Amino acid sequence: MPSALILGASSDIAVAIARTFAASGYDLILCGRKTNRFAPMQSDLEIRFGVRASLAEFDAEDPASHRTFYESLGKRPDVAICVIGYMTEEKLAEQDWKTAEKTIQVNFTGAVSILNLIAEDFASAGKGTIVGISSVAGLRGRQSNYIYGSAKAGFLTYLSGLRNRLFPLGVHVVTVLPGFVRTRMTENLSLPPLLTAEPAEVGKAVFQAVKQKKNRIYVRWFWRWIMLLIRLIPESRFKKMKL
Ligand SMILES: NC(=O)c1ccc[n+]([C@@H]2O[C@H](COP(=O)([O-])OP(=O)(O)OC[C@H]3O[C@@H](n4cnc5c(N)ncnc54)[C@H](OP(=O)(O)O)[C@@H]3O)[C@@H](O)[C@H]2O)c1
Repeated sequence: MPSALILGASSDIAVAIARTFAASGYDLILCGRKTNRFAPMQSDLEIRFGVRASLAEFDAEDPASHRTFYESLGKRPDVAICVIGYMTEEKLAEQDWKTAEKTIQVNFTGAVSILNLIAEDFASAGKGTIVGISSVAGLRGRQSNYIYGSAKAGFLTYLSGLRNRLFPLGVHVVTVLPGFVRTRMTENLSLPPLLTAEPAEVGKAVFQAVKQKKNRIYVRWFWRWIMLLIRLIPESRFKKMKL
């Protein structure tokens, strides 16, 4: 059976991704902090879809533990999906360095640390797919969330370079730009319904992107055009806008 490793398995988006892959017969390795929380999800996936789901402790903010974490998994997964992310109120990240640092660590340095190891392993095998969940916030810095956005921008560039490097080695990399998604991360924000996807849509989109070897996907199609327009605004005008 093929298998998928999910980093950040407690996230609503990760749960939806896990269900979509399990429905297609993938065994799952559900990774994150305090994995005892994942036991109900683990048994639900096993009973509902007849796959095997195992649990592994993973902390994005502890890069020193990442090699041991990955080597302890034993079997190499076919697909590795990095869903981890952290976003707080922008003001908090601006005023408190610890918060800004955590935002950068979870969304960028921690993700790079573990994906570097996975990339090495997949490259040596000459196969595998790596999926990174970035954000449209990484496509242009806005005053309302540029610390989170800049960490996601770093991750976007990392994924692009990784895809470029691994392509000749038979490893595929998918970048996901979900747009707004209704999850725990956004529960305190008032999001425009038309622009907001459900986690299940993200799950489906990620699965299709892996199967069809897509490079970069938006979940709701119009985000591509919204972001194109936003990126076309000249900086001299953009700096005066309240975004
Ligand atoms: N919701 C949106 O509108 C939206 C839009 C664009 C992109 N995204 C991205 O989509 C991904 C999933 O987000 P979500 O909306 O589903 O939010 P979420 O529920 O807050 O998911 C965040 C995930 O990251 C994990 N995480 C945070 N810090 C970690 C650490 N130090 N070590 C290991 N895991 C850690 C969380 O685990 P814990 O349970 O242990 O905290 C959780 O599983 C994130 O990368 C997010 O940036 C979301």
